[in-house]
Amino acid sequence: MRRTLLFTGILAAALAGSAAITGVSLAQSPADVVAARQQAMKDKSAAVFRTMRPFVQNGAGSLAAVQAAAETLASHNGKYQALWPRGTELGVAGSKTRPELWQQTDRLNQLIADMERNASAMAVAARSGDAGQIRTAFGGVVGSCNACHDAYQSR
Ligand code: HEC
Repeated sequence: MRRTLLFTGILAAALAGSAAITGVSLAQSPADVVAARQQAMKDKSAAVFRTMRPFVQNGAGSLAAVQAAAETLASHNGKYQALWPRGTELGVAGSKTRPELWQQTDRLNQLIADMERNASAMAVAARSGDAGQIRTAFGGVVGSCNACHDAYQSR
């Protein structure tokens, strides 16, 4: 009982962040938290790989779309920590998060800080409209996604 109450409190704190990302309402269970986290990641993936990458590689799409995607990505800043409440590691409800994430706070904080810095740089570059700046910033963004996945995403 006590554990349940504690977990509910953590979830409420977590959802204050993730709900803003995904637009979902208050989740009730670890399964819902994992689903919301995976949806938040899919939203990032769409911005980065469906919109930014074709523009950087082939000039496909539009600058306006890249700018919107960059703002979407930057809007996730400040919300990463809340995506990983304790009790949602690999083995729980389809989670692919390795348990080391909860044991390496300094490293996780660093990876999140790098991600947020690169997302902000991408937003600045997109607003500038300069193709070279956008290309450079895109490289930084993808590097940050990959660094965290290499550390904590189970494959
Ligand atoms: C701070 C660490 C971190 C950062 C930064 C990060 N991810 Fe993730 N990502 C994860 C972890 C951990 C998982 C596994 C989530 C789970 O299933 O519990 C994941 C899962 C995913 C998934 C799979 C989602 C699913 O449906 O199962 C995609 C797609 C993804 N991330 C894309 C991205 C993109 C694109 C970026 C960069 C813009 C990014 N991520 C940045 C840690 C991170």
